[in-house]
Amino acid sequence: MKNIPTFIFDLDGVITNTEQYHYEAWKEISHELEYNLTKNKNEELKGVSRDKCLLKILNWAKIKISDEKFNYLLEKKNKIYLEKISKIDSSNIVNGIYDFITAAKKHDHSIALYSSSKNANYILNKLDLHSFFDAIVDGNSVKFSKPDPEGFSLAAKLTKSNPENCVVFEDSEAGIVAGNKINMTTVGVGNSKKLNVANRVFKEFKEIKFEDFQKC
Ligand code: BG6
Ligand code: MG
Repeated sequence: MKNIPTFIFDLDGVITNTEQYHYEAWKEISHELEYNLTKNKNEELKGVSRDKCLLKILNWAKIKISDEKFNYLLEKKNKIYLEKISKIDSSNIVNGIYDFITAAKKHDHSIALYSSSKNANYILNKLDLHSFFDAIVDGNSVKFSKPDPEGFSLAAKLTKSNPENCVVFEDSEAGIVAGNKINMTTVGVGNSKKLNVANRVFKEFKEIKFEDFQKC
């Protein structure tokens, strides 16, 4: 077991700005349900699995639908989302990510990904980042998504790290809550008011310096 931190990255909203496309796709689905999904309400969907997002929207809209319609809407949301991300490439990597990951790898830190998305591997390939990760945990690997810590525990196990030795980078409250539950160091990227449960918060990833997180 290494005595230096393992870094666990979220994908949507941290490594790349695909979170906006999730929002746009859910907005279209919500419109079909005659529900107006606001940007503020969408914050509660960040980090949450696809089916749990739809359950939340149905709950907010106070609507009950059949299982067939539920599955149809899940598929439709994903189709809209995949269409929106079809053209992304390495130019869509957030500023500062590449430098941080390359510096961390140079200093022998393990790098893991934990994303609630079932599209994570596909996106990492499009960004040409797949090979940088020592472990990849996605929406297909876990039973319970964020705010449950299952995925973070698995990422720690796969990189042979103690959870207390892991630093998590997250843009969602659900992800920060999950990391906190198993005593990982949580770093929020985004709005400090929304992410105030994190150990530290930065407005943008480019403000984060590898040197500040090099030691446990
Ligand atoms: C998370 C996003 O990374 O993945 C959520 O923050 C999204 O907004 C979730 O709902 C599931 O994504 P997908 O690609 O499996 O529908
Ligand atoms: Mg995210």
